[in-house]
Amino acid sequence: MNKNRIERFTTKERVLHWVVALSFFTLVLSGLGLFSQMFNGYFNLFGGGQNAIMVHKLAALIFFVTSLMMFFHNRTEITTLTENDWSWIRKKGCYLTKEDCQFNMGKFNPGQKLFALSIAVATVILGITGIFIWFPTFFPRIVVQLSLMLHGLMFVCALMFTVVHVYLGSVGNPGTLESMLWGNVTRTWAKHHHARWYKENFEKNR
Ligand code: HEM
Repeated sequence: MNKNRIERFTTKERVLHWVVALSFFTLVLSGLGLFSQMFNGYFNLFGGGQNAIMVHKLAALIFFVTSLMMFFHNRTEITTLTENDWSWIRKKGCYLTKEDCQFNMGKFNPGQKLFALSIAVATVILGITGIFIWFPTFFPRIVVQLSLMLHGLMFVCALMFTVVHVYLGSVGNPGTLESMLWGNVTRTWAKHHHARWYKENFEKNR
């Protein structure tokens, strides 16, 4: 690897991320027609409603398992907040000002931690409500109806969070997407976005 680049994600981590992403978008596309009649046209992508439901169930199993694997893999990083994280939170990551703030961030910033945690919570809720919807005759009617409502609500929240994530992980922060594509980033990117992570892992190796 070029001396100016450092490893951010291993191949295993990247494969896991892209399986999660692919299964997530498959769930969105196959679920849209089930979410509202307005989106029935999306069934055509799968050759009809029955096929879309089948694909949805298969993608749900893959997403549930891999999304939780990704969460458990990153859980220590995601579930702890350092003093630097609090200063990021107080300044709202400087997303709302033109100021060029420098935060001494670890591997992930609090926004990324919040996203990862929200996806894990959404995965569990979507999974549990999904079981009730999958086997409606086994459960009381009220449980199935509440599940349908919560499933739809969680879907909308997860999709909104993901839209922001995709933007920030690509055009919003140039140089970031490379971490998930090739597994490495430039030292300049690392020092700018995740200075503490860089110092702790790479400074002495230079
Ligand atoms: C085209 C779609 C997507 C793109 C371009 C994308 C891009 C990225 C990038 C570049 C990173 C690494 C950020 C860094 O190095 O700091 C990342 C991390 C991550 N991605 Fe994605 N992603 C996509 C879809 C998804 C989806 C659908 C999910 C889950 C539903 C997801 C969950 C995560 C999580 C949990 C992390 C690690 C923590 C974080 O950055 O919040 N990604 N993604």
